[in-house]
Amino acid sequence: MSWRSASNLAWLRAVPGVRQSEPLASRTSFGIGGPADFFVEIGRPEAIEAALEGCRRRAIPYLLLGAGTNLLIADAGIEGLVVRVVNREHHVEGTRVRAGAGLKMMRLARVAADAGLRGFEFAIGVPGTVGGAVYQDAGCWGKELREVLVEVCGFVPGAGRQKWSPADLQLGYRTSALRDGALKGALVVEATIQLKRGDGEEAKRQMAKLTYERNQTQPIKTKNCGSVFKNPVGDSAGRLIQAAGLKGAREGAAVISQMHGNFIVNEGGATAAEVARLIERARAEVRRRFNLELEPEVEFVGRWR
Ligand code: EPU
Repeated sequence: MSWRSASNLAWLRAVPGVRQSEPLASRTSFGIGGPADFFVEIGRPEAIEAALEGCRRRAIPYLLLGAGTNLLIADAGIEGLVVRVVNREHHVEGTRVRAGAGLKMMRLARVAADAGLRGFEFAIGVPGTVGGAVYQDAGCWGKELREVLVEVCGFVPGAGRQKWSPADLQLGYRTSALRDGALKGALVVEATIQLKRGDGEEAKRQMAKLTYERNQTQPIKTKNCGSVFKNPVGDSAGRLIQAAGLKGAREGAAVISQMHGNFIVNEGGATAAEVARLIERARAEVRRRFNLELEPEVEFVGRWR
C-alpha cells in the first residue's frame, strides 16, 4: 500500500517548517537532483526525532541529509520526507569535543585548533558534516574519523535514544552500520572525538598546507561529489581511470575531471542520469582493461527506476 494516504499527507503538511516539492539540487555539492516530496530543515534533536518517529509510525519513507556532499539524487527526486539535519552546537570538554551532527567537519577542525587540540587536522579536507562523516567513516590523507571517535549519540525510530561506540558502528573504509548494516535509517545526533593537547597555531599551519595541497590535486572549486569511487585495495581509482584514458570523458554537462580521474564535475545543468552513465562507462572501461570492479563511493538516492 502506498504511504500517500490522505491522513499521512495531512500529517506531513503539518510538520513545522515543512515544504512540499522542494528542489534539492542546490542542497548538494554536485548541484544535481530532483525535488523532495516533502522537505524540512531541523536543528533541535528532539524535533528531528519526532519527525522520524512520525514517519516510522506511518510507514512514510524518509532520508536524512547533511551537507549533501556524497550524494547523487535521482532526477525524479526523493520519495517521502527529506530531513536536513542542522544541529551545529559544539562543546570542548578537556581534550574531547562533542559536536552536533549538522556541524561541518571543516568547521570542527578549526574549533579543535582554536582550543589548542591536535589530531583533527585531516578533517579540513572532509567536505561534509559530522553526521555524514560518521555515516561513512570519512577521512582524508590516510586518516579516518574512527581513529579519533569515542562515542556517538543517536536515535533509532521505534527504539529511542542510543549511545554507540565505534565498534557498535562497525566503521570501516567509507562504511558503517548506519550506511550498510543494522543501523540503517538511524539518526546521528552528536559525536564525541578524543584529541591531544598541542599547539593550535601549528595545527592551523598544517591545515593551511593540507588545503593548499588538495587545491593542487582535486577540482575542489567545481560542483562535484568528492571521490566518485572507493579506492580498490592497494590502488587508486583516479590512477586507474586516468590509465583507462577517461579523463575528459563526457556525458552532457557531466565530465571526468582532467585534474583528478576520480572526480566528476558538473559543468552546469548536468543531470543525474548523465552522471550515472559516466559512472557506468568508467566502471565498464576499468573492468575491460584491468579486470577490476570499481565500487561507487557516492550514494545513489531517490527514484532511480
Ligand atoms: N592519481 C593519478 N591520476 C589521477 C588521480 C590520482 O595517477 O587522476 C594518483 C596520484 O598521483 C596518487 C594516487 O593516484 O599517486 C592517489 O591519489 P590522491 O593522492 O589524489 O588520493 P586518492 O586516493 O585519489 C583519497 C581519498 C580522497 C582524499 C585524498 C587525499 C578515496 C576514494 N579518496 O584520494 O577522499 O581527499 O585521498 O587524502 O579514498 C573523498 O572521499 O571524497 C575524497 C576526496
